[in-house]
Amino acid sequence: GDVAVLVPAAGAGVRLGPGRPKALRLLGGEPLLVHAVRRLAAAASVHTVVVAAPAADLVAVRELLAPVAPVTVVAGGVQRQASVAAALAAVPAGPEIVLVHDAARALTPPGLVESVAAAVRSGHDAVIPVLPVVDTIKEIGVGERVLGTVDRSALRAVQTPQGFRRGVLTTAHAAATDPLTDDAGLVEKLGVPVVCVPGSEHALKITRPFDLALAEHLLAMGR
Ligand code: CTP
Ligand code: MG
Repeated sequence: GDVAVLVPAAGAGVRLGPGRPKALRLLGGEPLLVHAVRRLAAAASVHTVVVAAPAADLVAVRELLAPVAPVTVVAGGVQRQASVAAALAAVPAGPEIVLVHDAARALTPPGLVESVAAAVRSGHDAVIPVLPVVDTIKEIGVGERVLGTVDRSALRAVQTPQGFRRGVLTTAHAAATDPLTDDAGLVEKLGVPVVCVPGSEHALKITRPFDLALAEHLLAMGR
């Protein structure tokens, strides 16, 4: 494998409701992070996995993941971007392709990991998996008044894993000023082209209780 995967897993999961940090919440009796790392490790290209965990749970996360795959676990930061930066700093010399993958996308198929990695390997500096936007999207102003309807055909919903040539991601993080919620956004600011590959509905981000219920169903169906 020529790929390192950074797994931001240090978020609280506020939108999921009260409880453990989201990466440690259970899905089919196992933490979301375990599901995510197991699927990453099943992708043949993946050589190294670095997890950014909640600082208070570092030891517990190491013990949790030891039987799943060989991983490095570091403390995450207050914002997702800081968690990714901490994980990036822990990648050993070697892998020249770096993927960033949300622990919250627990059921992401290994095939999507491979397709993102393959697109970087084929020469793209930055690659993101996307899906078409299905709902009509409106821009609203003061008082929830509609200002207009956005042309949906030009929009995409963005998932992870996002893939980068290592030097590009390192430069993007070093240059970052305002924290963003995705890594491709930092690369865009450098003026580096970012290309899209087809995403997967199974790579949904478990964000709200409905998503967790959907994921439970998908898992029971064999995912
Ligand atoms: N994440 C992280 N460090 C943070 C914030 C988020 O590593 N300081 C991670 C989360 O653990 C998750 C991914 O980034 O795997 C995507 O973030 P999100 O879905 O927003 O998770 P949370 O921030 O935990 O959820 P919420 O925003 O509802 O609190
Ligand atoms: Mg968040």
